[in-house]
Amino acid sequence: MRYAAITDRLAGLGSDKWAVHMRAKAMKAAGDDVILLTIGEPDIAAPPQLVEAAHAAMKAGRTGYSNGRGEPGFVEAIAAKYAGRSGRAVGNENVLCFPGTQTALYATMTGLVGIGDEVLVGDPHYATYEGVIRSAGATLVPVPLSPDNGFRMRAADVERAITPRSRLLLLNTPHNPTGAVLTRGDIEALGAVARRHDLWIVADEVYEDLIYSGEFASPFDAPALADRTVAVASISKSHAAPGFRAGWAVGPAEFCSRLLPLSETMLFGGPPFIADAAAWALTHASTAAPAMRASYASRAERIVAVLDRLPGVSCRLPQAGMFVLADIRRLGLTGEGFAARLLDEARVAVMPGESFGEALKGWVRISLTAPDAAIDAALVRIAAFVRRLAPGEAA
Ligand SMILES: Cc1ncc(COP(=O)(O)O)c(C=O)c1O
Repeated sequence: MRYAAITDRLAGLGSDKWAVHMRAKAMKAAGDDVILLTIGEPDIAAPPQLVEAAHAAMKAGRTGYSNGRGEPGFVEAIAAKYAGRSGRAVGNENVLCFPGTQTALYATMTGLVGIGDEVLVGDPHYATYEGVIRSAGATLVPVPLSPDNGFRMRAADVERAITPRSRLLLLNTPHNPTGAVLTRGDIEALGAVARRHDLWIVADEVYEDLIYSGEFASPFDAPALADRTVAVASISKSHAAPGFRAGWAVGPAEFCSRLLPLSETMLFGGPPFIADAAAWALTHASTAAPAMRASYASRAERIVAVLDRLPGVSCRLPQAGMFVLADIRRLGLTGEGFAARLLDEARVAVMPGESFGEALKGWVRISLTAPDAAIDAALVRIAAFVRRLAPGEAA
């Protein structure tokens, strides 16, 4: 049988990038003593009040159809958040609800770019970006993010990657997998490039509430960029609630009205009881975010303190998010080779850097979302494994 070209464009993406994670999960399910430090699933429960808000809404009969933009209470809560943050008028016409940042990204990309267009993306980048861009028929053009600049995107590097086909600059701040946070100055310089070349800016801000060093800045909040910026986010990370699938896109009113039919065609609305809970989340301070910030910052310090002293390994503190990167190039292995052997020989699962773009060849990403005791046990195993790999070097 014949399949549409989109299946070819996406072949090899998706689950291939998560092969180590899948294998580790299968080993653990079979009874193996594997420590998983792969994905960014919060290790604390969603706040009980959030669960209660969803439960109460279900019991109150909020189980019917919604609409393409979103339930009014949720839409208003999102508009109020961004109006408060940016200090400018943001109304319901600037908001579209989606089941998670992922779907918001998918719809936004489909609405803004198509075949032949180029999307500028920092390299490394979040694992699904390539698929989202390719789904729309566009091409991902990597913009190198250098560890020497703390992995923060530089305007000059974007400028160098621009061609007549460039249509959109995809920013991610705070950044996965590097934990970098763009400064206001970075945003101004990147915004100036976007204006000069008439690019859309899509800002994935799902980690906004998980910054532990540095200050959040967004192109959405810059008045000069308001007509070309779409911000996407969700309560997945801020409220330790990824399973709620409650996210959104905020942007110019014309963007939202043009995308509304796309949202209606894709979804015909989300669950009203989830929308009610998410509205509650946005109108109450998160108890989950401060707890996660504290534990992720301290786990990152534990990991860097051990790994950065190992022969052949360099490791620096992230500013935000749920991950630490380790540079293992001096060990002479690829990230994939290291991750596969670490799983087989030491029963610790980490993500190969290659899953996040070419720039992280020879790096691994370590998740901070495991309990302290599991992190400490994993560090003992990783240290013994690395010393076996590099027996000649001084510890
Ligand atoms: C950078 C980035 N964007 C988007 C997502 C997906 O978030 P959501 O659960 O809101 O779909 C993730 C999840 O890990 C992420 O790391």
